[in-house]
Amino acid sequence: MKPIYIPEPFRIKSVEPLKMLTRQEREEKIAAAGYNVFSLASEDVYIDLLTDSGTNAMSSAQWAGVMLGDESYAGASSYYHVQESAQQIFGMPYVQLVHQGRAAEKVLLPVLLQGKKYAISNMHFDTTRAHVELAGARAIDCVVPEALDTTTYFDFKGNMDVPRLEQYIHDLGAENIGVIIMTVTNNSAGGQPVSVANIRETSAVAHKYGIPLMIDAARYAENSYFVKQRETEFKNCPIADIVKAMFQEADCFTMSSKKDAIVNMGGLIGCRDKALFELIKQRTISFEGFVTYGGMSGRDIEALAIGLKEGVDENYLRYRIGQMEYLAGRLEEGGIPFQSPVGGHAVFVDAKKLLPHIPYYQFPAQALAIELYREAGIRACDIGSYMLGNDPDTGKQLEAEFEFTRLAIPRRVYTQSHLDVIADALLNIKERAKEIKGYKIVEEPPILRHFTAKLAPLD
Ligand code: F0G
Repeated sequence: MKPIYIPEPFRIKSVEPLKMLTRQEREEKIAAAGYNVFSLASEDVYIDLLTDSGTNAMSSAQWAGVMLGDESYAGASSYYHVQESAQQIFGMPYVQLVHQGRAAEKVLLPVLLQGKKYAISNMHFDTTRAHVELAGARAIDCVVPEALDTTTYFDFKGNMDVPRLEQYIHDLGAENIGVIIMTVTNNSAGGQPVSVANIRETSAVAHKYGIPLMIDAARYAENSYFVKQRETEFKNCPIADIVKAMFQEADCFTMSSKKDAIVNMGGLIGCRDKALFELIKQRTISFEGFVTYGGMSGRDIEALAIGLKEGVDENYLRYRIGQMEYLAGRLEEGGIPFQSPVGGHAVFVDAKKLLPHIPYYQFPAQALAIELYREAGIRACDIGSYMLGNDPDTGKQLEAEFEFTRLAIPRRVYTQSHLDVIADALLNIKERAKEIKGYKIVEEPPILRHFTAKLAPLD
């Protein structure tokens, strides 16, 4: 079947011109960047798929909100607007602003992990893993086995493996586990959704052992759309009610607002417990700023209050997920392997399958990301062994469960033609896949190395 494109439920009012470099110029730029796509200047990129985080196009209503933002240090009206939007959407009594998702992790995780040894998640995002480790604990991933097979269809590849979770709790001791984290959608498994049934089961296990359940809510709206499509109980349910069904299972949440709240900056923490909220407020004041702005300017808070509501609009979500499905459909036609069915914010190309001659320690997904830049000025990123890094105990390179090259699609930014350029570039690369070489790291920092490491091509 020919891939279908769901038309945009908006028109374009403002445009940003793009520069187009020659292949020779791109070769020079990527070499000068130490073969690290994070070191490229964005003006040297034609289609930027590095992330869907903070790269969203805001609506005219949000831009109008920017002008109405209240920049008062304390008690700004924008603060009350965002409180109202967030409490209404998530149904949690206490909500704290912070400047982005990892700030929420920095504030909350050390409180939950104090005196504890482990956090268990369907899959930790890299900053979440880093904050678990910075709090002196270890991060354990516990995704369902179906997620590991990129070719077989499964409705909810983001789910927690609940029997394995319970086994971990037995083996490690409930008293040693500070938090159970549900990442929705499951970014590292391919933006894969988690079912409400699975959240309920995970919540039941967590609460049986007195362990708090936290939702990492970065892409909660996209997750809710998938639930509506795939979980029979919610077939006729408004998105807003699905969101409530998910969050009512959790004790707290962290959120990067830079994704589904369709803004360029922001984060939230929510919780039910008043005593926990007091600690969150104190730590926010130390690290982020006074509670009513939490590291954000009033104009950004106002845009967030509006974006939270736009992000759960079903027409928008249909178009949004439709873009992923269109791009995935084109890749499928061309025989490019990817995490299937496609997830909510990105197509995760299976570099292990496309470049089987490159072993994990020569970073096949990074090699493919570099090749995409060479081919068409497209910037994607590695979600594989290169991103995972070294074992914190032994210092040895870890082997990731997946070697994905992630094509993250910013919200409301690129058109159908841009998606066609991406698909055509990958098809061209597939033709000469055997010639593509791996990479070695020549310089790396100890934590979150993929942002700043330097690499060199292998002969
Ligand atoms: N949790 C998840 C699931 C994420 O995907 C991210 C960020 C964070 C937490 C941290 O949020 O960036 O606002 O500090 N993900 C981005 C990405 C960076 O490209 O996937 P942040």
